[in-house]
Amino acid sequence: MTIQEQENRYTSGLYTKRPIAIVRGMGARLWDSDGRVYIDCAGAQGAGNLGHANPAVAEAIATQARTLISCPEMFYNDKRAELMERLVGIAPAGLSHVFLCNSGTEAVEAALKFARLVTGRREVVATMRGFHGRTMGALSATWEKKYREPFEPLVPGFRHVAYNDLAALDQAVNDQTAAVILEVVQGEGGVRPGSPEFLRGAQALCRQRGALLIVDEVQTGFGRTGAMFACEHLGLQPDLMCVAKSMAGGLPMGAVLMGERVGVLPAQVHGSTFGGNPLACAASLAAIDYLESNHLPEHAAELGTWFMARLSRIQSPVIREVRGKGLMVGIELKQKVTPYLQGLMAEGVLALPAGLTVLRFLPPLVISQAELAQAADAVEMVLTQPVRESSAAE
Ligand SMILES: Cc1ncc(COP(=O)(O)O)c(C=O)c1O
Repeated sequence: MTIQEQENRYTSGLYTKRPIAIVRGMGARLWDSDGRVYIDCAGAQGAGNLGHANPAVAEAIATQARTLISCPEMFYNDKRAELMERLVGIAPAGLSHVFLCNSGTEAVEAALKFARLVTGRREVVATMRGFHGRTMGALSATWEKKYREPFEPLVPGFRHVAYNDLAALDQAVNDQTAAVILEVVQGEGGVRPGSPEFLRGAQALCRQRGALLIVDEVQTGFGRTGAMFACEHLGLQPDLMCVAKSMAGGLPMGAVLMGERVGVLPAQVHGSTFGGNPLACAASLAAIDYLESNHLPEHAAELGTWFMARLSRIQSPVIREVRGKGLMVGIELKQKVTPYLQGLMAEGVLALPAGLTVLRFLPPLVISQAELAQAADAVEMVLTQPVRESSAAE
């Protein structure tokens, strides 16, 4: 039985699979079970910023695994204490307390609960095309119908306004609004950077009207957009900032960082068994050290600028727009993206969709310019050739 057959027999069925089995990674490269190598521009859907088999992260995990893996927050722990201090040290100014959890949706779920708790208000304003996760609260903030409708009724009190429409946000935020939640660059919604006017305006509206600003940096955090956090590009100071994905070098981990308008929360209203486990904390400390000492946010900024310029030079009738920030890059096509993703895979490049028509690139930030140039050449080839029809779904 092949790996594919074995997995197909037992899988939940929730995922649309690509027909390869990935068995090994190194830096920005992945190998399949037939020994074929790929340049990874899918980047573990944003959890792979540090690169595959990152030696510093692997060493920290191995050492900590031999020392202490689990330790719920009812006890203090050396690695957790160190990580909390480190996170506050690198976070946008004003974020001073930390809740640790295990994924992006859990971080968003917690932030929404904290916003209700602290403000005593019930309503949340989110954005069209926003993506915040798939648990019931986070899903209520997510926009895409295909994820929401099968599970309705969702949490009441959520509404969505057009992203980058400050006037619409102004209309929506009132004295019942507990929080506004948004991404600085929308990821799943199509790699759409927020305008400075919208993002700064959202922060000002929240302050004026007693609502909290939740910035979801689950995809943009840890160097992806060319700064440690995307908030830094505009000097944003959210009240709550959600992070996850690359936070622990690829190990599952999430966090909410909180500012003074949230303060210290009352004991026992929320929690998580695995939250703040020493294994993930040690991996996260190693990941942050590696990002900083190798200047990966700066590398992402430089390479991202180069990559977008290179992609913008491609003469193809199917390209509508190239956009992004740092190494979070999208090409909006005039057609469905799936055949192009398949074409890229055949050329040895793995990429992601973002919605139906956007080709998305989230390479590990350790990728070299030569590797990215090779990926760009493949993109050019695939976008300038006639599309091969294929039945495999994305
Ligand atoms: C902006 C954003 N928020 C939240 C999530 C949910 O994260 P997770 O899949 O870890 O639950 C994602 C996942 O893609 C995301 O991109």
